[in-house]
Amino acid sequence: MRSWTPSSWRGLPISQQPDYSDPNAVQAATERLQALPPLVHTGEVDRLRQQLARASRGEAFVLQGGDCAERFVDLNAQAIQDKLKILLQMSVVLTWGARIPVIRVARMAGQFAKPRSKPTEILDGVEVPTYRGDHINSHDPSDRQPNPQRLVQAYFHAATTLNYVRALLGGGFADLRHPQHWDLGFVREPSHRAEYQDMVSRILEAVDFMEAVGADSEGSLSRVDFFTSHEGLLLPYEEAMTVQTPTGAYNLGAHFLWIGDRTRKLDQAHVEYFRGIRNPIGVKCGPTMAPDELKRVCETLNPDNEPGRLTLITRYGAGRVQELLPGHIQAVQECGAHVTWSCDPMHGNTRSTKQGLKTRDVSNILGELSAVMDGHRAAGSVLGGVHFEMTGDDVTECVGGPQGLADEQLAESYETFCDPRLNYAQSMEIAFLIAQRLRRDA
Ligand code: PEP
Ligand code: CO
Repeated sequence: MRSWTPSSWRGLPISQQPDYSDPNAVQAATERLQALPPLVHTGEVDRLRQQLARASRGEAFVLQGGDCAERFVDLNAQAIQDKLKILLQMSVVLTWGARIPVIRVARMAGQFAKPRSKPTEILDGVEVPTYRGDHINSHDPSDRQPNPQRLVQAYFHAATTLNYVRALLGGGFADLRHPQHWDLGFVREPSHRAEYQDMVSRILEAVDFMEAVGADSEGSLSRVDFFTSHEGLLLPYEEAMTVQTPTGAYNLGAHFLWIGDRTRKLDQAHVEYFRGIRNPIGVKCGPTMAPDELKRVCETLNPDNEPGRLTLITRYGAGRVQELLPGHIQAVQECGAHVTWSCDPMHGNTRSTKQGLKTRDVSNILGELSAVMDGHRAAGSVLGGVHFEMTGDDVTECVGGPQGLADEQLAESYETFCDPRLNYAQSMEIAFLIAQRLRRDA
C-alpha cells in the first residue's frame, strides 16, 4: 500500500469539495490553522477509542448526536447549554434505564461542512451555488461563493464552543438534579408518563447522581466524559488539523470523525486521509454499500483490526433494514472485523412535505431503530450505539413524537438550514424508549 502522509489524499479523486477561486487564500488559511493550538488532546482521543472498543462488545453504549450542521449564528451560551443538557439528560436516562455506561459524542464544535446532492440551486429564478455549511459559504443566497476565511473562522467557532462546554462541565453544570430540568409535560400517553416519571424519580433520588454521568472516573473533559465529532468532509481543513506525534498522526480538531455516505468510496481521497489518522473513526453505511465493499472498507481503514478504531453507522431507511442489514453484518462477521455498530435512523428517513420542508417521521426513526436492534440480535451481533440529529430546543422539524406534530405545524419553528432535527421532547422520549428496549434485551 502507498505510504501515507496528511496530504497523500491530494491528487486522488475527491467529491463534495468547494471550488475556491483563490488557492493562495486557501493556502494562507491552512497555514494559519497549522500554527494554531489543537482543540483536543491525544490522550482524550485514545480514551474514546478504548471506550468505543467496550461499546463494540456491548459493555457500553454510544450516544452520538447534535445538529445536522452547526451555524456560526448559534454560537451563544444558551444554545450550547441546551445542546449539552439534552445530550447529558438522554445519557442519564440510558445509563439508568438500561444500566449501561454511555459514551457521549456530540456532533458539535466542528460540524460545519455539509455534503450536498447538487452543486447549484435555483432561488427566485436565479441559479446560485448550494449552501455547503458555514465552513464554506453563507446561507444567504447573495453570499454563496466559497470563502477560504471561513476555514479559520470555523476553527475559532469550534474552539469557543468547546471551551464553553469544558467550562460548563468543569463547573458542575452536569448536575441536573433539579426537578425543573425533568418536566415530563411533553408525554401525552398516561401510562408512558407514569413509567417515565418512575424512572426520573429513581434518577433524582439516587444518592450518587453524579455517578450516572460518570463524573467520578478520570474524565476527558474535566470530570465528565464528553467527546466531540464531525463529518471529516473538508479535507484541506482536516489535513491542517493533523498533528504528527510519536504514536502516529492525530486529527486534533475533534475526538471522532466520520466519513459520510457520499464520500466513502475506496481508492478516493477521504478514505485515503482517514486511513492514516489514529482517531477513532466512523463510516456511514447506506443502501449503496455492497457487502464486499464493506469488507474492503474494514481492511483499509482498520488494517490492524483494532477494536474501537472503526464505527459503522448504518442508515438505510426504516423500510430497508431487513433487506440490507443482514448482509452487512454477515460481511463483517465473515472477515472477522472488530467494529462498533451504530444506528443512524435519521438520514434514510427524510422526505419533503407538501409545503416544501424536509422532514422525518418519529415513527420511522423508531421503526429503523427497532428493526436494527432486531437485526443485530438475530445475527448474534451487537448494536453499540445510536446517532441522531437533534437539538435541545423546541423546534418543529420532525413530525410525530409526543407532541404529535403534523406536516402543517412544521413552519411554526423550523430553524435548520440543513436536515430536520428531533426536538427536546422527541429526543427525550426516544431516550426513554431505547432505555426500555435495551433493558428488555439485556
Ligand atoms: C449527516 O450525517 O449529516 C449526513 C450527511 O449523513 P450521510 O452521510 O449518512 O448522508
Ligand atoms: Co444530516
